[in-house]
Amino acid sequence: MNIVILAAGQGKRMHSQLPKVLHPIGGKALASHVIDTARSLSPERLILVYGHGGTIVRSTLAADDICWAEQAQQLGTGHAVAQALPQLSSAAQTLVLYGDVPLISAATLGRLLQAAGQGVAVLTVDLADPTGYGRIVRDAAGNVLRIVEQKDADAAEKAIREINTGIMVLPTDRLAGWLSALKNDNAQGEYYLTDLVALAVDAGISVKTAQPAAEWEVLGVNSKLQLAELERRHQRNQAERLMVDGVRLVDPARIDIRGQLTHGRDVAIDVGCVFEGRVELGDAVEVGPYCVLKNVKVGPGTRIAAFCHFEDATIGPDGVLGPYARLRPGAELGPEVHIGNFVEVKKSRIGAQSKANHLAYIGDAEIGQRVNIGAGTITCNYDGVNKHKTIIEDDAFIGSDTQLVAPVTVGRGATLGAGTTLTKNAPPDTLTVSRAKQMSLTGWQRPIKEKK
Ligand code: UD1
Ligand code: CA
Repeated sequence: MNIVILAAGQGKRMHSQLPKVLHPIGGKALASHVIDTARSLSPERLILVYGHGGTIVRSTLAADDICWAEQAQQLGTGHAVAQALPQLSSAAQTLVLYGDVPLISAATLGRLLQAAGQGVAVLTVDLADPTGYGRIVRDAAGNVLRIVEQKDADAAEKAIREINTGIMVLPTDRLAGWLSALKNDNAQGEYYLTDLVALAVDAGISVKTAQPAAEWEVLGVNSKLQLAELERRHQRNQAERLMVDGVRLVDPARIDIRGQLTHGRDVAIDVGCVFEGRVELGDAVEVGPYCVLKNVKVGPGTRIAAFCHFEDATIGPDGVLGPYARLRPGAELGPEVHIGNFVEVKKSRIGAQSKANHLAYIGDAEIGQRVNIGAGTITCNYDGVNKHKTIIEDDAFIGSDTQLVAPVTVGRGATLGAGTTLTKNAPPDTLTVSRAKQMSLTGWQRPIKEKK
């Protein structure tokens, strides 16, 4: 089959520079949702009709399997499909989708294709309020006769509640003839794709219909309000899938997945979490409330407390993280590592059972096993021009408020006294302290406030 995705419209009501079909749902462009669903049906040709915001639409959605058809002027949906005509394989059926109707399911499209056979089929739905949509006009026996647009409909037609979703299947070998027969003598002065239905009936082809499994599948996005509504629907769908697969969500209405979340067994996710890119949660991982995880792999048994922010990081099994921990790109934590509140880790490897529980910056570091990093420790990795590495070997103890001026190495089993500013390597199994000796000055007086 051929699939034609209509995406030339501007989307005026979005009030945005960004072409409508590039606005995101679940972190992915509206049109990309449709493209992915189209791909799952393995079409022979996949053609995108674009117009408004042409260059950015093409560059954002570019892929080897997509053919492009430009519709320079938006003269109607029939005109739009006509632009794709030269690229269609005439032996196959043509399925028309909308780039701004993102949640249509492959299962529904499968049923529509089946209903069509080698003929015509329209995806329709009964709406309590059909205002604005094209209506499906049937004869007394229930056969579809034609589609009438809202603006062209008389009172009786406006009362029809069965509407055209816009999604339809057409026999490609008939398209050229039908499309060239379209006229724009209607209320909107447009070439309506919907007029093909009457042409098919005239040609003795009966027009079939199919219905989506749920109404939200055929909802389009015309405004930011509708964008937000479909975002919540999409998130609800993902949440339901996770729960069916055994993930415990404290509140399925309070999760956002903008990418791919994979998981093991007995995973629990508290409210308000955002998952972006590829996130992998191992068995029995617990994610506390209000965490943001982007491109993160979390080993089994790890517990993440509230308000953590992790990006491009790997966390070993049985870790204890947060609250308020931050892992930046290149953070690699071994098994049973503890990273506590207000600790930032960037481009650093931390070995098994090492702990940094409070207020620290660990950047460009190589940290061994069972290392204890005291509160307020900072790797001074940047000299203003270049980044340098800090190496802390196994079993070292870093006292509180230590600055490690990189490049520097702390030997195995070494202890650094609190407040040390380490500028030279610390030998193994030795106490290194850099602070001045403590003294008490007798007779010293506090300054007194000067009189004005
Ligand atoms: C269309 C249908 C209507 C249906 C409704 C469902 C026609 C004539 N009417 O109406 O029966 O109930 O969709 O939402 O088909 N587009 C182009 N080029 C154009 C015009 C439109 O690419 O020249 C694209 C738009 O970007 C959009 C889709 O086609 O993705 C539908 O266009 P829109 O203007 O929203 O159609 P409606 O008038 O709402
Ligand atoms: Ca519309």
